Amino acid sequence: IPPDIQQMLEAHELLRKFYHHLLLNTKDGQHALDYLLTRGFTIESIEKFQIGYSLNSWDFVYKFLAKRKFSAEVMQKAGLIIQSEKDGSFFDRFRNRIMFPIFDQSGKTIAFSGRTLGDDDPKYLNSPETPIFNKSKILYNFHLARPQIKKLHHAVLFEGFADVISGDLAGVENGIATMGTSLTDDHIAALKRNTQSITICYDSDNAGIEAAFRAANLFSDAGCQVKVASMPDGLDPDDYIKQFGPEKFRHEVIEASSTLMTFKLQYFRRGKKLQDEGDRLLYIEEVLTEISRLENAVEKDYYLRQLAEEFSLSLEALKDQEKQINFSDR
Ligand code: UTP
Ligand code: MN
Ligand code: MN
Ligand code: MN
Ligand code: MN
Repeated sequence: IPPDIQQMLEAHELLRKFYHHLLLNTKDGQHALDYLLTRGFTIESIEKFQIGYSLNSWDFVYKFLAKRKFSAEVMQKAGLIIQSEKDGSFFDRFRNRIMFPIFDQSGKTIAFSGRTLGDDDPKYLNSPETPIFNKSKILYNFHLARPQIKKLHHAVLFEGFADVISGDLAGVENGIATMGTSLTDDHIAALKRNTQSITICYDSDNAGIEAAFRAANLFSDAGCQVKVASMPDGLDPDDYIKQFGPEKFRHEVIEASSTLMTFKLQYFRRGKKLQDEGDRLLYIEEVLTEISRLENAVEKDYYLRQLAEEFSLSLEALKDQEKQINFSDR
């Protein structure tokens, strides 16, 4: 390992421990701890996920690391401090935020995401891309979830850290999340080395449903077996667990998640008035296109019959139409 990489990792390790200490044991961190406990985080989950707090200071990290002989260059390359364009001075990237350490697969701290306690923008501030942190490869909680994923032959993909942590507390220990970026081929490849079976459990808002549709297609194209969980409109898994409890979350959301086709049928219905002719025809066409992508003849037949029945259409006509669809582009 090159010396500067080693130092970046050491700086992250030191800060993770210090942020965690500040949150749990100091007066400065009290309001952050209160925030977390009020939100329903437990001390156990704060320990398990090594959550911390960054002081409301412009130069705490800089001084803390300088005292331990880290160079400003290393701190900056690691994404921990920022150089001002105006006067070249350095200041801390993370200030007055709840700190979520990001671990690599072996459990080394390689980045942070800091949540504001108020409504500052951005809500979550992430480490930038650095020599030790590549967002398009890292999955949050993969190091802890991996043994569970292997044991259960199944993974649950969430949208946010808070959902992973709430899910874990609710007994779903095979949960992971991307780092606020959309799912990449690298993420899928990393997961596929451990399981081919995934449940997507994204937020039940427009952005989450669109992202779930996209992610579901990527997994399916990569040969994975994918299911999609759904929740009442507007809720995310963390909200749901708080409102309805862990039992209901496990049984009525995770275990009750839909097959890919059922999810797509719901997805195509969104925003449509099926009693209107135009919407109805558009829906039928979207569903037929999806059916034409199925490789299994029995499945094809099953969904064609279902469609014929729902809209009182002739099965023959639907079959003819389905055959004509050219499914080149998605
Ligand atoms: P959400 O906005 O759904 O956050 O973003 P959340 O997980 O529900 O967070 P809480 O409950 O408000 O605390 C989902 C994910 O998108 C990324 C983060 O990874 C977050 O976990 N994100 C979101 C960012 O990177 N930056 C942001 O400003 C917002
Ligand atoms: Mn601790
Ligand atoms: Mn969201
Ligand atoms: Mn959310
Ligand atoms: Mn949330």
